[in-house]
Amino acid sequence: MDTKRISLTVNGKIYEREVETRVNLVDFLRHDLGLTGSHVGCEHGVCGACTVLVDGVSTRGCLMFAAQADGAQVETIEGLAKDGKLNPLQESFWDLHGLQCGYCTPGVLMSLTEMLRDDLSPTETHVREVLSGHLCRCTGYQNIVAAALEAAKRYRESGQPV
Ligand code: FES
Ligand code: FES
Repeated sequence: MDTKRISLTVNGKIYEREVETRVNLVDFLRHDLGLTGSHVGCEHGVCGACTVLVDGVSTRGCLMFAAQADGAQVETIEGLAKDGKLNPLQESFWDLHGLQCGYCTPGVLMSLTEMLRDDLSPTETHVREVLSGHLCRCTGYQNIVAAALEAAKRYRESGQPV
């Protein structure tokens, strides 16, 4: 069994772990670090449920080995709320019913976080392009799009960093 010692930052906290080189990033986050907010759907890079940010870029956690994240800054859904308070993106999803079962939601929110850091005035088309990497079996996407646009508005008006 090949292993590698890695050090990475997850949601601002540094972790050092010995990992099997075949373990993917989302399994490492869930099983080794106990961060089960990132979900696993297809395990083939299709559904987007496992999406996290690696050095600020949305990344399929099922397609990247944990060993490849050595030295990286990883952000997961657990890092969005601060001091127990939902951030404006999460609040917008809550208020506009942007989810039903919630299985796709952590991945969706991480991709939208990346989008909002780059563009606080996204068009609906841009939002839908970002969402094209995420499968949602419940919502029909309409409320997800509305919540994403509402979140952009709230960030613009509040001046709060994404
Ligand atoms: S579980 Fe990674 S894309 Fe579906
Ligand atoms: S809310 Fe159920 S899969 Fe998206």
